[in-house]
Amino acid sequence: AMVEAAALEHERVVVTRGRRSGRTVVVAVHSTALGPALGGCRVRPYAGWRAGVADALRLSQAMTWKAALAGLARGGGKAVVVLPPGAAAPAGADREALMLDVGDAVADLRGAYWTGPDVGTGPADMDVVGRRTDHVFCRTSAAGGSGDSGPATADGTVAAVRALAAHLFGTDDVAGLRIGVLGLGSVGGRLVRTLAAAGADLVVADADPGRRVLAGEVGARWVAPDLLPVTDLDLLVPAAVGGLLTPELAGRLRCAGVVGPANNQLAGEEVATTLHRRGVVWAPDYVVSAGGIVRAVARELDAQPESVAAERVAGIGTTLAAVLRDAAAADVPPHQAALTRARAIVAGAGAGAGAG
Ligand code: PHE
Repeated sequence: AMVEAAALEHERVVVTRGRRSGRTVVVAVHSTALGPALGGCRVRPYAGWRAGVADALRLSQAMTWKAALAGLARGGGKAVVVLPPGAAAPAGADREALMLDVGDAVADLRGAYWTGPDVGTGPADMDVVGRRTDHVFCRTSAAGGSGDSGPATADGTVAAVRALAAHLFGTDDVAGLRIGVLGLGSVGGRLVRTLAAAGADLVVADADPGRRVLAGEVGARWVAPDLLPVTDLDLLVPAAVGGLLTPELAGRLRCAGVVGPANNQLAGEEVATTLHRRGVVWAPDYVVSAGGIVRAVARELDAQPESVAAERVAGIGTTLAAVLRDAAAADVPPHQAALTRARAIVAGAGAGAGAG
């Protein structure tokens, strides 16, 4: 269970009812110490608006660490649109109204927060947000944006998988490694294709049985989603929604390392310690999943060509390797080593050091 902090750690949390959609829109700005806060807009059902606020608080904090460790002069934020339990994804005019409401919420923050795509949103939604504010990443290329962030997130994850393989097995060659990928959406799907082409021995799962087709295409073994984490694997790659690593599951994993792009994989902070004690190396999700924001910033703010953006995304492997070295040297969970680094970077901004 989460212990509530005595004082709000976030700079600002806005909870508002969209005037067009009537939906609760939450924007959490965790930190702007390094620069304007950056983080995607999540649209999904929650048990209630308080659960949406709790998710926005956790996700925006992780964005601060993600941006800092990726070397971006940006802070962490997140937007959450709360749909009722069981609601289908809004479509047509309802969806447009919703995204215009998000655009207003972002515009109200006057540049303290820039949004982008996340679970339940994509570039076409960002085009709609862009009718209300310029503080939006990943619009379609037709609207002048850098488009889908999924491929870069997948490429950054591949760099992280290679770095963890090198750390654990002495080589970044994934050929013959048994890798389990949970979640075959836009990020997981591309990841699986890349890893299959590199010769990995893949086991995959998705809650949507329709995605079994992809398993067949790449020659991966298909198992039920609840079986994948307890399958004998070299590496487990969580690529679906967060909270997978519960204390209970942490005791049952049968892999040497976990390295995936899903945000907020730890159901509780103590799980990092449990995994460390069991000798399972958990690559912090906020290091692994930075490819999307790294590319978006490289393309849209720094006006760099795709080739330079790709090099910066590949740098995620170098960052993870450094975190894993810190952690091994101090015999602490990589989560602790990564947070120590991230906090030093954020604190350094306060001391007037420029952020790379
Ligand atoms: N969903 C992305 C993440 O969690 C957020 C994002 C991507 C925001 C690209 C802006 C641009 O990192």
